[in-house]
Parts: sequence; C-alpha cells; structure tokens
Amino acid sequence: MDKILVLDFGGQYNQLIARRVRSEQVYAEIKPYNKITPEEIKEAGYKGIIFTGGPNSVYDETSPHYDPNILDSGVPILGICYGNQLMAYMAGGEIVSAENSSEYGKTTVFTADNILFEGLPSENICWMSHTDYVKTPPKGFTTIAHTDKCPCAAMCDESRKLYGVQFHPEVTHTAYGKQMFHNFIFAVCGCKADWKMENFVEIAVEKYKRKLAGKKVLLALSGGVDSSVAAVLLHKAIGSNLTCVFVDHGLLRKDEGDFVENTFGEQFGINLIRVNAEERFLAKLKGITEPEQKRRIIGEEFIRVFENVAKELGKIDVLAQGTIYPDVIESGKGDSAVIKSHHNVGGLPDVIAFDEIVEPLRDLFKDEVRETGTQLGIPHELVWRQPFPGPGLAVRIIGEITKEKLEMLREADAIFREEIANAHLEGSTNQYFAVLTDLRSVGVMGDARTYGYTIVLRAVTTDDFMTAEWTRLPYEVLEKASRRITNEIQGINRVVYDITSKPPATVEWE
Ligand code: XMP
Repeated sequence: MDKILVLDFGGQYNQLIARRVRSEQVYAEIKPYNKITPEEIKEAGYKGIIFTGGPNSVYDETSPHYDPNILDSGVPILGICYGNQLMAYMAGGEIVSAENSSEYGKTTVFTADNILFEGLPSENICWMSHTDYVKTPPKGFTTIAHTDKCPCAAMCDESRKLYGVQFHPEVTHTAYGKQMFHNFIFAVCGCKADWKMENFVEIAVEKYKRKLAGKKVLLALSGGVDSSVAAVLLHKAIGSNLTCVFVDHGLLRKDEGDFVENTFGEQFGINLIRVNAEERFLAKLKGITEPEQKRRIIGEEFIRVFENVAKELGKIDVLAQGTIYPDVIESGKGDSAVIKSHHNVGGLPDVIAFDEIVEPLRDLFKDEVRETGTQLGIPHELVWRQPFPGPGLAVRIIGEITKEKLEMLREADAIFREEIANAHLEGSTNQYFAVLTDLRSVGVMGDARTYGYTIVLRAVTTDDFMTAEWTRLPYEVLEKASRRITNEIQGINRVVYDITSKPPATVEWE
C-alpha cells in the first residue's frame, strides 16, 4: 500500500492535509517533525512527503527545522506555507518578512504551466495566511506561481521533485486545492489509489491488538456514533479485555437504552455494564430550572456514576475514548466564549486511576467515522444517527425536569421522528426533535376546556452545527405530527414549529 508522510510543523490544518490525501484513496500518516529521522522515512518507504504549515518564521531560533539531506533523498516533497518557506531556507533561498505585504484570506494566484497545476485555470483563488514569503527561490528552483503581492507563491525543482506553495491547498477556500493534491500524489509521487476505510479498520485493529495486549480497557459508551465506533473497533482488537460502561441517566429518547444494550451487549457480544441511574439523576435535578446548572449537575453525576463502576472493576490499565478530530480542534479553542458547557467524557481522566488513554478515532472526521462504523457492521440507524446532546432530554425540557414531563417529551419526540421517517425526510434535515416548554395554554377538546403544555418541534439544516437554518419541512408532515401529538399524548394541547436559525438561536433550547 502506497503511503504519504505528512510531516507536522505545527500548522492548524494538518489533519485536513491527511484527509485530502486519504480522500484520494492513498494512505497518509502524520508524524511530528521531531519524531522521525530521514533514515526512518527512507525505511518506511513513503512515496511522498508533505511539509505542513506552522506558526513560526524560519529565522526564529526556536522554530522547527529539519535535516536538509531529506531534500536529496529522492522522495518527492510538497511544502505548504511554513513548509514551503522551510524548504526554501534549507536549500539556500531567501525568505523575507514584510508586514505590509502579508496576505490573509482568498487571494488570486497566477499559476504557470506545471505538473502541480495540471487541469487548473491559470488564474485561480487560493487561501493565503502568511507574513513571510520566499523572495528568492533556492538554486535549482523556479517560480511557478505569483500573486499581486507575493512574487513567489509557488516554486519547484522538478529534477528533485520538490514543490512548495505559499497558500493552503488543503482548505476548501482554495478552489482547486483538491486537484493540486491529486496532481502531487499521482503525477509527482506516482501513488496508486489503493487505500480504503477498510484498511483503516485493519490497521487500527492490528495496532491496538499489539498495543493493548493483556491490558484491561474501559470505555464510556453513550450510544452516539463516536463512542459506538470506538467500542466496536477496540472489541475487534482486544475482545473481552474491553469493558464498556453505559450510564443510562434516564434522559434518553424512547427505547434508546434498550437499543444500546441489545446492540452492543447481545449483537456484538461486548462486555457491557448498563447502569440504570435515572432515579439518581432525577433526584439531583429536582427543582433545578437554570440550564447551565442542569448541565453541570448531569456532567458531575455522570462522572460519579462512572467512577463507582470503575472502582468496582478494580485496576484499569487504559481508558478509551471516542474523541474524533473535530473535538480535538474544538477543545484547542481556549479563548472562545462558552455558550453552553458541553458535557462529554473529557473530565473522566482526572477521577479514574489508569495508566494510559487511547483514542482510536482521533485522526478521523465525522464522515470517516461513519464510514468506519459501516465497515465494522454497526447498524445503519446507529451509524447515521443524528446528534444527541450528552445531557439528553434535560436540555429539551424547559424548567424543572420530572418523570411525567420526560414521558410526554419522549412520546412527542418519537412521534415527530416517526413522521419524518414516514415521509422519508431523514436525509433532508440534519437534526430534528421535540422540546417541551413550561408554557401552558388554554385549549378545547370534546367541548371541554383544557390547560395543557406546548410542544415545540425543531428541525435544522446545517453542515457543521456552528450555524444552522431551520428546515422547511412540508406543512403536511408538521400537521400530521401536530395532530398525533395532541391526540396521543395527554397534557399537550398545542404544538408550534421553531422557525429561528442559529444564530441568533442555538439548535437546542437550553
Ligand atoms: P447548540 O445548541 O449549541 O448545538 O446550537 C449544536 C449541536 O451540539 C449539540 N449539543 C451537544 N452535544 N453535548 C453534546 O455532545 C452537549 O452538551 C451538547 N449541547 C448541544 C446539539 O444537539 C447540536 O447538534
């Protein structure tokens, strides 16, 4: 299997680079620049190397550098942004820092005839983010692209198969970035497209078989896509040495707890401990109406329950988590304002004694995780499950949470999902659910006055859940859901549809 090495110099888009390579069906491995020597690179037989971007300037004393001999190793290299400057610097070119000619954002780049730009128009939009640039390319290199401000936006030494670009082909704002990777991987490096997500499963199973041999591993399973895929993958590698703990906090959707137990415990034969902790959570949530307080209580209680189970199990060697790449990026954004304190298992490492954490999906994007799940034979409905917040229905009941309200909401939510499924609309909206307000209003049923609760139906269309549009569901579907909810659930006499986008609203109501 052909593979490309992504040599990491600390850039923020490095995983995106690996993803672009993988989407061309070529395997990509990311290694920190200081964790692999040129000899190891040669031995591993990479067909090409990509030097990533990074936040430094090549002239900083502490900036990451690499052994210049790598340029003569015969392995093709593509340098991106800092990687491009570093390559120029290593080969004796001149890099300058010019504050007033720095470029950020979409920039028109004029490209020359070159194998790297095969199939591109000679004028195209690329994403720039730099202050330093290559003023004079090194000996043996020629300039193959420029912008209005940057005399050398790309360079190459064709005889040594060395290429460098000042812009970021990995981000979607670079219109022909995909084509540039394609050209580098196939035309320059000569790779074969023979890698599939199946290979990821094979490689990961082999890796964890070796790495976790004889160790006791614990994983918190929520029934969401990420922890489910991590559980099945690790189970394939280490079998009964994996124990999954599923904390049923009683805030799940209709029949969800049983579904998780059946799927993982019975279908996959995973060691599964289901903790039915509904009473415990409801007792803690009694009288609580403030959304952030609800979230905190649930997060803390979750950790306590998990901790108790872990203690009973005795010594745990490894804690496994279903962290995926977007979680890694998001947790890195330390300065962004907290809109909602998301509940996840990030707090667990502090309270449980173990030697190591493994995160088998850490390098994957959501669609790759779903693909992995499919490869592992996880049921379609689970792999394509819509997102469900950790604190569950608690953030969809406005005001105090009670058992009765949970029952009403569960039924309303199930009816709404059923009607969406009946209309085959699952693929037309990214998340859809019901919310129970604490608003009661007057209605009439069979000539009698009612005073019941209002249910909100919410459906959103979004790529990344950071912003979202309300989904234009057909009136007939809304009408049917509304009729069924008011007819079938006692205590509800009004249904409204939320037509607010995010921003200004959020997807969830709390
Ligand atoms: P908001 O309400 O912030 O939701 O617009 C964006 C997406 O995040 C989900 N969400 C959560 N997911 N733990 C999670 O794992 C949480 O605490 C949480 N809160 C919101 C929400 O369902 C939507 O998909």
